[in-house]
Amino acid sequence: GGRVVVLVSGAGSNLAALLAAHDDPAYGARVVGVVSDKPGAGGLEIARAHGVPTAVVAPADFPDRAAWDRAVAESIAVFRPDLVVSAGFMRILGAATLGRFPDRVVNTHPALLPAFPGAHGVRDALAYGARVTGCTVHVVDAGVDSGPIIAQAAVEVQPGDDEASLHERIKVVERALLVEWVGRIAREGMRVEGRQVSVG
Ligand code: GAR
Repeated sequence: GGRVVVLVSGAGSNLAALLAAHDDPAYGARVVGVVSDKPGAGGLEIARAHGVPTAVVAPADFPDRAAWDRAVAESIAVFRPDLVVSAGFMRILGAATLGRFPDRVVNTHPALLPAFPGAHGVRDALAYGARVTGCTVHVVDAGVDSGPIIAQAAVEVQPGDDEASLHERIKVVERALLVEWVGRIAREGMRVEGRQVSVG
């Protein structure tokens, strides 16, 4: 099945790319819901503009992380997804969410994992002096950006790059990679065995 729920915290350009792709029925994946931890996330506006239902689960509204995580799991489950896509979702998902959708949550990260995990993948690659970085689509596990890798694409660092310019070039490649692989997973299915991911 191709029911996809997208998790966003920010601008939502990856979400916008998935929504543009799902307008073609042959794409196979359809964004049926968007969940955010931030009431003001730009991605929520993008979803609404496409007529896609949204939910906000803000940590401030819950007594602790576990309660927030259970609410995230519940608000995703309402949309009955086949696949959950974390696209610029800047929080670590907990056991309730991952346990509810085992091997069915994927994340896009703006670096070539396992290099530069965490919230500042672009900044950290620049600071390290990497000449090549890129983006990774991976299965989410209990760690931080540590799950089995589905696909990666490289982007060269250019002289004079700052975090914004490099991130913009990564995001162009990232959107295409995410759209390609979410579609493939929806059409062909995905199996995860240890660190090996097979699609189709
Ligand atoms: C993307 O580059 C995504 O990889 C990154 O945030 C950006 C969101 O852009 N995520 C992380 O850094 C997660 N650690 P978007 O809101 O325009 O899709």
